[in-house]
Parts: sequence; C-alpha cells; structure tokens
Amino acid sequence: MNKIKYFLIALPAFTLMYIIISYSGKHIEQPEQQSCTKYCPEILQGKETALQAGEQCEKEKLKLFDIQIPNPINCSKIKLELNFITSSLSEEEANYPLAYIITIHKEFEMFVKLLRAIYRPENVYCIHIDQKSSKDYQRKVKSLSDCFNNIFLASKMEYVVYGGFSRLQADINCMKDLVNTTVAWKAVINLCGQDFPIKTNKEIISYIKHKWRGKNITPGIQQPWYMKYRTEYSYEEKIKDGEAKIYQLNQTKDAPPMGLTIYFGTAYYVLTRQFVKFVLEDKRSITLLEWSRDTYSPDEHYWVTLNRLKDAPNTIPNVTWDGDIRAVVWAPPAGPTLDGCNGHYANNICVYGPRDLKWIIQQPDMFANKFEQTTNPLTVACMEQWHRERVLSQTSEIIQSHWHLKN
Ligand SMILES: *[C@@H]1O[C@H](CO)[C@@H](O)[C@H](O)[C@H]1NC(C)=O
Ligand SMILES: *[C@@H]1O[C@H](CO)[C@@H](O)[C@H](O)[C@H]1NC(C)=O
Ligand SMILES: *[C@@H]1O[C@H](CO)[C@@H](O)[C@H](O)[C@H]1NC(C)=O
Ligand SMILES: *[C@@H]1O[C@H](CO)[C@@H](O)[C@H](O)[C@H]1NC(C)=O
Repeated sequence: MNKIKYFLIALPAFTLMYIIISYSGKHIEQPEQQSCTKYCPEILQGKETALQAGEQCEKEKLKLFDIQIPNPINCSKIKLELNFITSSLSEEEANYPLAYIITIHKEFEMFVKLLRAIYRPENVYCIHIDQKSSKDYQRKVKSLSDCFNNIFLASKMEYVVYGGFSRLQADINCMKDLVNTTVAWKAVINLCGQDFPIKTNKEIISYIKHKWRGKNITPGIQQPWYMKYRTEYSYEEKIKDGEAKIYQLNQTKDAPPMGLTIYFGTAYYVLTRQFVKFVLEDKRSITLLEWSRDTYSPDEHYWVTLNRLKDAPNTIPNVTWDGDIRAVVWAPPAGPTLDGCNGHYANNICVYGPRDLKWIIQQPDMFANKFEQTTNPLTVACMEQWHRERVLSQTSEIIQSHWHLKN
C-alpha cells in the first residue's frame, strides 16, 4: 500500500523533473551540437571511425536541435545568431543577383539552414509556404522573412498536392511576384525545403555565366512513351481521408495545344528573367499552362517543353539531360542499387546520411536533395559546415565573426 502511494507521488515528480531536464537541454544544445560537428571533416573523407563516433554523438545529442523564433522578433539579433551573411562577398556576385523560389512545407530548422546557405543581400527570395502546413510553422517563416527586405512570401500560396498542378502554380505565383521586384535579378532558381547547395553562390553564378553563357537550364528529353500516361489522361486533385492526392480520371485528354511537342524532364531549373517574362506572357506558355491543369506532375513537362521552343529567349537547341542542377539518388530500379543511399528513401528519393557526404561533395551539381533535419541532423550539420567554410574561403572581403557557423 505504502509503496503504491509513494509511486503515485513520485511519478508526477519524476515526470516534472524529466520535463525540466529535457527543456533545459534545449538551452545547452549549441555546445553539444558543436561537439558532434567536430567529427565532420573526417566524416566528409568517409573515415569509418569518425562516422561511428559522429553517429553515436548524433544519437545522444543532436536530436534536440530546435531554432526558436521569439515573438516579437529582434531582427538584427536573429541575423547575428543565425549566422546570416549580411554583405556581398565579391563584385562578381554583387553584379549578378539571383532570384530564388523556395517551396516549403515542413522542418523550420532545415529551411533556416538552407536559407542561410544561399542568402546574400543582393539576391531576392520568394518563399512559398504550402497552405497545409501548420499555422505555427507559417508564423515562424513569415517573421523570419519579414526581417529581410529581399525575402518575401508569395502573394498567393497554394495547398500543394504531390504530383499535382498546384506545385507548378506555386512557382508561377512566385514568378509573377519576382518580375515585379526592383531587384535586377538575372536568373531564377527554384528549390524545395529539402535541398541544400553543394556549390557556393559564387560558383553557381560562374556555372550559369560561363558554362551556360547565361542560358536557361532545364535538363530533359522528348516525352518518352512510358511518361505519356501523365498527359494522355485527365487527373484531378482530391482530398480523401484528410489527405489531398491526385487521381487519374477515366477521360483522355486532347492533344497538346498549338502543335507543341511535349518534353519530359526536371522540375528544377535555372531560368533567365527574359524567359520568365516569356512564360508569363507568351500565348503558347499561357495555353500550355491551361492545358496542363489536369495532367500528372506538370512541373516535369512545363519548363522543359517551353525551353525547347526555338524562339523562346535564352534557350539552347538540342540539349538533353545536360545541366548539373541537383544531385539526387533515386531508389531502385531507377537508381543505383550498390551503396546508392546510406540514409533512407522517402518518395523514392534518398534522404542522405553521413556516409553519403563524401560522394555528395564530389558531385558537379549546384544542389543536392534530400536532406532532413529531424532524421539526419548530423548530415545536415556537416554539410552546412563544409559549405560555409568553402564560401568564406572564396571571399576577399573582411569576414565578420558571426558569419562562422556556431552550430
Ligand atoms: C536587438 O538586438 C541587438 C543586437 O543584439 C541589440 O543591440 C538591440 O538592443 C536589440 N533591440 C531590442 C529592441 O531589444
Ligand atoms: C506590380 O507592381 C506594380 C507597381 O509597383 C503594382 O501596381 C502591381 O499591382 C504589381 N503587380 C503584381 C502582380 O503584384
Ligand atoms: C471508362 O469509360 C469508358 C467509356 O466512357 C467505359 O466504357 C469504361 O467502362 C470506363 N471505365 C471505368 C474503369 O470506369
Ligand atoms: C539540332 O537540331 C537540328 C534540328 O532538329 C538539327 O538540324 C541539328 O543538326 C542539330 N544539331 C546538333 C548539334 O545536334
């Protein structure tokens, strides 16, 4: 009897203690995170002992990482604390502003890490928040964005359905806002919340300017027979069991409008400002957009189809899969089976683990996908540490102390 009483009193007390300990854990996370990132340089070389030590450290310490956005927010303080680079790092970069479209729906920490990796004061950023994400998430993204005069939320935001037209519409919404900004951006790049750059801002600009002579980059080919189902039938976005999905209808579609040849390729691109204007204004672009409304995954045909039109601005005829936009490891059978992915697969794409880092940093691509803060925090931490050091090593400007990542 006494034992039970003791237990009933002790249980709430221990629960309370546990909450206090876990909570206070969040405030000592920075030095702890640092203690895991000390393994990063050797992890990037694929050294087994460092990989094991890092993974153990990650298990014990890294999962706590959590970025707080106080309300009200002190913008100058948060820019310092989150290590944002607050001035241009070279003349070449300052003279070649980029626009970014970032579509996100989860993991605020991952968004901050991506943003601070690509942020430069001369660039401009349109953030599209999926309307199915939580109100708290949307508030955090908005209050952080409001701290910067070159970061804004899309004026119209969609409820995004995987594989649906809404994903394409989100980019179009941002483009409409971006052509209206005063920033003289030269090219736009779209990203999702699970991307992370391999190249630095300087290297991205050099890649676009020199390797591609400032042309559009949309890797792809004429639509192969096994992709025809995407545009031969009508599809519809529907909410079923509380989840929005795309469904094929028993209805065949008309042939593509205006004699257009449909291509198939990447949903992720580099597009010049003139081409974006063409997308928003040309009769073919507008008609193709309308026709694409009930197709499957239209973002994988829309950009590449328009960028194969001979008279569209800044296209290169006869390109196919050229263009190192992003390093992605697909699940078998499409992708490699031998040691292809050392993390786990999500939607048939590898979410990278620490053992993938050595391979990632050797890729020629501008970005890699996917990274996930909640399941693979060490991978993200090592990746951003490596990237930031590379950025700082390429500048001749005076490096401000808060540009060094502390966590
Ligand atoms: C905001 O943070 C900066 C830098 O830490 C500090 O100097 C300033 O006093 C803060 N402003 C307010 C209103 O707290
Ligand atoms: C573009 O900017 C102009 C002038 O600043 C404004 O009147 C117009 O409403 C804007 N258009 C869009 C689509 O935001
Ligand atoms: C699809 O439509 C055709 C013609 O309208 C009909 O014959 C067929 O039974 C339909 N199939 C399904 C699965 O509904
Ligand atoms: C590009 O395509 C055109 C027309 O389709 C063709 O005549 C030309 O030979 C091609 N050029 C190259 C380099 O493949």
